[in-house]
Amino acid sequence: MSQNKNSETAPLLEVKGLRQHFAVSRKFTVKAVEDVSFYINPGETYGLVGESGSGKTTIGRSIIRLYDPTSGEIHFDGNDISGRMDKKTKDDLRVNMQMIFQDPMACLNPRQKVADIIAQGLDIHHRYQSQKERTEMVAEILHKVGLSAEHANRYPHQFSGGQRQRVGIARALVMNPKLIIADECISALDMSIQAQVVNLMKDIQDETGLAYLFIAHDLSMVKYISDRIGVLHLGHLLETGTTEEIFSHPVHPYTRSLISAIPNPNPVLEKSRVALQYDYKTSGLDYDAGTLHLIGGTHYVRGTDADLERWV
Ligand SMILES: Nc1ncnc2c1ncn2[C@@H]1O[C@H](COP(=O)(O)OP(=O)(O)O)[C@@H](O)[C@H]1O
Ligand SMILES: [Mg+2]
Repeated sequence: MSQNKNSETAPLLEVKGLRQHFAVSRKFTVKAVEDVSFYINPGETYGLVGESGSGKTTIGRSIIRLYDPTSGEIHFDGNDISGRMDKKTKDDLRVNMQMIFQDPMACLNPRQKVADIIAQGLDIHHRYQSQKERTEMVAEILHKVGLSAEHANRYPHQFSGGQRQRVGIARALVMNPKLIIADECISALDMSIQAQVVNLMKDIQDETGLAYLFIAHDLSMVKYISDRIGVLHLGHLLETGTTEEIFSHPVHPYTRSLISAIPNPNPVLEKSRVALQYDYKTSGLDYDAGTLHLIGGTHYVRGTDADLERWV
């Protein structure tokens, strides 16, 4: 973790006032993301934390343009990617921004060999001259994520959860991207395997200088991997700051409750750890009005799942 990393360079990713609404029916709109702004510098890790349903996946998908943002701006690597993109911008985006999922194999053809899964992006973007070169590129990337060239001919079900996640990382990494969006990519793994995968991701970052948007529902691994953190709640970014700032001066009670939920590795201290309950009623947020007045003077409006019935 390094402070002020690349502080002189322009941000790699800048998200300004992002809104993502889903019109579920003519009268029913889910306001999944409301007015979210943050940036990620080149080579940096930004941790995005929030409970299930807070809009993390939606933000990731909007940024990689699986969705058309309802409003707001997204700038990536010098390009405005919020609206219609020309072919070159789209191609650049598909190469330079990659995604790792919770279980990379869950959505893939189980009859596809790992080599073909990893080389998919290379195939689409014509990144090799010969089959030999393709095989070499796959072998090299497998090696980089701690697997071996022989793994290329196996099928997804022949791997453990941790190994599968390494394949998912290899698949993203083979394109040599500038940003990887990792959406709860370790949540399904055992704690010890989680640490291994996070360490691998950090090592790869040191080597390649890529940036991560690291999405998680708790702060335990986020604290360890992130340079800066954003806390998301009900579609709003409640606070954002360096990891140091968030942990030493959490401003919002919701952030404090997330910090208090992290288990302490020291069993003596863990015994006395008090998990703070986040009280929606006394938090200063007026959920009934759907209007939130928060510390720092920021004004938030949002439709929560619970609010939706009242809103429509
Ligand atoms: N395609 C969609 N259509 C309608 N509602 C959606 C869609 N995707 C997500 N949502 C809703 O948006 C909110 C945020 O979801 P999501 O981004 O998946 O949260 P998270 O990843 O933090 O768990 C949830 O209330 C979810 O039900
Ligand atoms: Mg999600």
